[in-house]
Amino acid sequence: MISHLYIHIPFCPNICPYCAFYKESAGRERVEKFLEALLVEVESHADQLRPETIFLGGGTPSALSPVQLEFLFEGLHRYLDLSALREWTIEMNPATVAADKAKLLRDVGINRISMGVQSWDDEVLKTLGRTHTAQKAEESFHLLRDAGFQNISIDLIFGVPGQSLTSWQETLERSLRLDPEHLSAYGLTYEEDTEFFRLLGKGVMKANEHLEADQFEITTDLLSAHGYEQYEVSNYAKQNHTSLHNTAYWLGRDYLGLGPSAFSTVAGKRWRNIRETGLYSSSTMSGQTARDFEEPLSPETLASERAAFGLRTHHGLPFDHGKKWQHELEKMETHGLLYRTEDRWLLTCRGKLLADTVGEIFV
Ligand SMILES: C[S@@+](CC[C@H](N)C(=O)[O-])C[C@H]1O[C@@H](n2cnc3c(N)ncnc32)[C@H](O)[C@@H]1O
Ligand code: SF4
Repeated sequence: MISHLYIHIPFCPNICPYCAFYKESAGRERVEKFLEALLVEVESHADQLRPETIFLGGGTPSALSPVQLEFLFEGLHRYLDLSALREWTIEMNPATVAADKAKLLRDVGINRISMGVQSWDDEVLKTLGRTHTAQKAEESFHLLRDAGFQNISIDLIFGVPGQSLTSWQETLERSLRLDPEHLSAYGLTYEEDTEFFRLLGKGVMKANEHLEADQFEITTDLLSAHGYEQYEVSNYAKQNHTSLHNTAYWLGRDYLGLGPSAFSTVAGKRWRNIRETGLYSSSTMSGQTARDFEEPLSPETLASERAAFGLRTHHGLPFDHGKKWQHELEKMETHGLLYRTEDRWLLTCRGKLLADTVGEIFV
């Protein structure tokens, strides 16, 4: 039985210039055809699934209308055995939060919200091409609390061109005043095939690594001073509020991904679903496979991935799992990126900032 389920909803009301997740603008007919196909895919996997965690991500699942959400959740409740479910997360964009949707999501069993605030500075929000203002995001947060959600995570981005250290500090402080259970703070990545990547290439946008390092440092300091544990490089939680779904993924547990572009890793195999929504929908509806790529994962690949992900978390890398990379790990230690406890390797503060570079030793 698979215990972790990801469902990709590929629609967004507006396309952000930094984002490389698979998404498209929502048109009513296309969304309805997609939802029907998704439920066909859910039904076809139902006998393998007894989820402890479900993550509805995207894209923007909250961009679906109340009628579309009702259709989706009615189907999920019909096909899935939810008796073991502990955590059911939905990603929300603040621009799409409304009281009726919040109540509907509570009623169908969602118990964790991940909201993409990104910044509380309207100028930074404009640079990021977001359609919501800081004020709308704050109203959305309160609407979710009023609907009864007691596990809310806020996504933030630092390293945005034009975002000063003061602006970032104020974003952290305003987030803390709302008292969320969880925060994700991501350094801006210039992903290929995005508008930001093109602007960086042309020299119109510039990265400032020193400022980004300072922003990262105040994040860890401020959040830990307020009782949030940095349990992964970009993720901070109050006690008992780490994301169970993401933790399962980082620990190398099997997970099933449904919907266009979703990856799955099950029993030593990895596959990806067709990316294009129309093609995904028609293939699924006609009983053909939704997969467009599949590979076996060798025990070595699985061990490398587990080491790389584990090292990014507070669990670190136990010495016996890291033996194979002993020489490289010691080199990273001399560069001040790693340190040892009695039985494991952990990232130093500088190592966390350069976690992607450290991770390259496992590739
Ligand atoms: C799939 S998005 C979903 C959230 C929702 N669609 C929204 O935008 O509000 C998950 C999160 O990834 C982060 N993210 C997306 N692209 C990023 C990038 N290029 N660099 C850093 N963080 C990014 C954002 O913080 C975003 O909230
Ligand atoms: S950041 Fe969120 S809203 Fe923006 S394009 Fe990506 S998935 Fe859509």
